[in-house]
Amino acid sequence: MLSESGRMNPGPWVDHSRHVAEAARGLAIALGDMDPERMYVCGLLHDIGRRCGRTKMRHIIDGYRYLTDLGYEEPARICLTHSFPIQNTNAIFGEWDCTPEERAEVDRMVDGFTYTTVDELFQLCDALALPSGCVLLEKRMMDVALRHGTNDWTVEKWKATFRIQRKFEERLGRSIYEHLPGVVENTFGSLTR
Ligand SMILES: [Fe+2]
Repeated sequence: MLSESGRMNPGPWVDHSRHVAEAARGLAIALGDMDPERMYVCGLLHDIGRRCGRTKMRHIIDGYRYLTDLGYEEPARICLTHSFPIQNTNAIFGEWDCTPEERAEVDRMVDGFTYTTVDELFQLCDALALPSGCVLLEKRMMDVALRHGTNDWTVEKWKATFRIQRKFEERLGRSIYEHLPGVVENTFGSLTR
């Protein structure tokens, strides 16, 4: 499904999705209370709405609808929740490019969710996966800020992501990065050349 969508709208989002999937599987194995393969598939599908074209925030609605129509409830939910570590639809990177009715619908749904560990897993993994691989959260945050700019909610959103990191690390008793292969190379490049 991801490959097909990548042919419909080629872009770095496809490799980003693969790395979110790998990160989610790695952390799910380490955390032990989520199905790693299921998390892997949810990761592959979290930005699947990008199959509909070069859109901005509307990709989350397109993904939600596409997967809901197919009956894939959990990944459909992730399409929405992964973008909102704080439950406020103003807290976005980029812009809304949907109708006011659709925006209101997203507002209602995001407001209505009680976040689970699975939602938080994808809020975290989305924030640490570049198309080239998993990196230090701060590096991906800077990458997004440089591409999309920042708004009044950016710092709150970053803080919420760090809270999720801390929560998972308390459970793991170690750094999340120990479960994400290649973080040092992807973050700092080759240190030996
Ligand atoms: Fe993403």
